[in-house]
Amino acid sequence: MSTLITNIGELVTNAPGAGDGAGHPGAAAPAGPGPFAAIAGAALVVEDGRVAWTGPAARAPAADEMIDCGGRAVLPGFVDSHAHLVFAGERSAEFAARMAGTPYRAGGIRSTVAATRAASDGRLRANAERLAAEMLRQGTTTLECKSGYGLTVGDERRSVAVAAGITGEVTFLGAHVVPPEFEADPAGYLDLVCGPMLAACAPHARWVDVFCERGAFGPDEARAVLAAGQAAGLMPRVHANQLGPGPGVLLAVEMGAASADHCTYLTGADVDALAAGTTVATLLPGVEFSTRQPYPDARRLLDAGVTVAIATDCNPGSCFTSSMPLCIALAVREMRLTTQEAVWAATAGGARALRRADVGHLGAGARADLVLLDAPSHAYPAYRPGVPLVAAVWRAGELVAGAVPPA
Ligand code: NIG
Ligand code: FE
Repeated sequence: MSTLITNIGELVTNAPGAGDGAGHPGAAAPAGPGPFAAIAGAALVVEDGRVAWTGPAARAPAADEMIDCGGRAVLPGFVDSHAHLVFAGERSAEFAARMAGTPYRAGGIRSTVAATRAASDGRLRANAERLAAEMLRQGTTTLECKSGYGLTVGDERRSVAVAAGITGEVTFLGAHVVPPEFEADPAGYLDLVCGPMLAACAPHARWVDVFCERGAFGPDEARAVLAAGQAAGLMPRVHANQLGPGPGVLLAVEMGAASADHCTYLTGADVDALAAGTTVATLLPGVEFSTRQPYPDARRLLDAGVTVAIATDCNPGSCFTSSMPLCIALAVREMRLTTQEAVWAATAGGARALRRADVGHLGAGARADLVLLDAPSHAYPAYRPGVPLVAAVWRAGELVAGAVPPA
């Protein structure tokens, strides 16, 4: 069964390799997405859940069925590479106090830990599924989801199990903060994380993460957590340099982490290390918006040649948005990304941060994850911030949210 999606005003492909202008990747195409690329007046053929062809609509091949986009734009599905969706409760009072002048602190995590421990499995699952569905309606077709609000062996195990119910990109974050019962024995908590907790969670997870920050875990503790995770078959990623300058970014690069996330406070050495290494800098502008911190210096990273992703960090404390379009708008307005750079970072950048070659682009062979905007160009999520422009979403070629408006 093949579907021709045609009359696309602008088709963002991020297709790998130089290609031949007709949607066929070049011979030396790298694995995964290439640089920002778009075709005006385009069409795309989906076959068996994959992109089979892209190119000018006038040269499109025949297919079993046809969808007319009426000149609207189509983007790759957003790849949200950083989210914490397994939790109970909410912290709107903390947010309100913050807007009245109380600074954000890592310790707020503990109030969500208490609510999460008290919640039933069904409640945790329903909350996570509701947020994942909310993301899908806004165009997110790939999402990463962390544990980290359980912090006992049993609560972390059920957290990664709930996360595995909504995504294949599950991250074990037992090293989020030291829970209150280990306040006097942080070394004991580290042993628990690296031992029985990791053993219980690794079978459900692909990634290991650590909050490397003053008030959470120091560099040696963080290195131990990542090394234990690697030994258990997980790949590392790091919460780094969120609340102040620190060792997180250098540690992420040293450990070959797929991503250093936040990167709000960077030194020249951090930027140089990221530029020389393979670690993606994942920026989370919704956090700076919601905590009134300064935005990261994204231009400095991009100008140094660092691969930049943007993600939501959806969580009840530091940033409770699930909207990649909002993060694109913030990245453009507040971090001075161009509209192309921001859309690339929210699609191809996220794919690189998850080391995924099949998403974040619409080159031939990619998973057919598509976002149809009710707008003619990729610039609109930033140009019309806050407006629900996502009209329809396909995942693996299946319409999973919205509908195609009449042409
Ligand atoms: O990415 N930084 C650590 N974890 C989350 C915040 C979690 C919370 O405040 O509940 C973050 O910002
Ligand atoms: Fe986070």
